Amino acid sequence: MLRVENITHQPVEFSPALMAQFADFVSRYPEGKQKSALLPMLHAVQAEQGWLSVPAMDKVAAYLGIEAIEVYEVATFYTMYFLRPQGKFMLEVCRTGPCCLVGAEKIMDHLEQKLGVKEGEVTPDGLFSWRGVECLAACGFGPVLQIGPEYTFYENLTPESVDQLLGDLKAKANN
Ligand code: FES
Repeated sequence: MLRVENITHQPVEFSPALMAQFADFVSRYPEGKQKSALLPMLHAVQAEQGWLSVPAMDKVAAYLGIEAIEVYEVATFYTMYFLRPQGKFMLEVCRTGPCCLVGAEKIMDHLEQKLGVKEGEVTPDGLFSWRGVECLAACGFGPVLQIGPEYTFYENLTPESVDQLLGDLKAKANN
């Protein structure tokens, strides 16, 4: 198995489409304020590459003419940026109090058992990762999970509805 530590520093290439997106983002800000494009640029990199590796962040820094540490600071602050490879579908389960009262922990246990991977790991087929996150603002409909990058919500979860969801996602990935 390829360990994350071994791939973190592998060189990356950005597609022409991604570079065009960079130019578009930067053009929205006044001269000298290019750094303001950092957040959408990182989202675009993540959408293309699946996560933000150190070389990818370094490339973004070079493009913007800023220090790499400035990119690392932002990427490590926001949990929507992934600093290690994730499955094609990242299932984020709310683990805050109200959802826990109605079974969020049971849902996370079920995901771990069903997918055979612990929180933050990737299934061998590369399809799934899962993790617990803080309140998703759907407290009256828990347990709840979201799936990026569209952040689709799935509410009132049960082990059975989670199984159905995993099956649907697998089918979607194979189409
Ligand atoms: Fe789960 Fe708010 S506590 S959505």
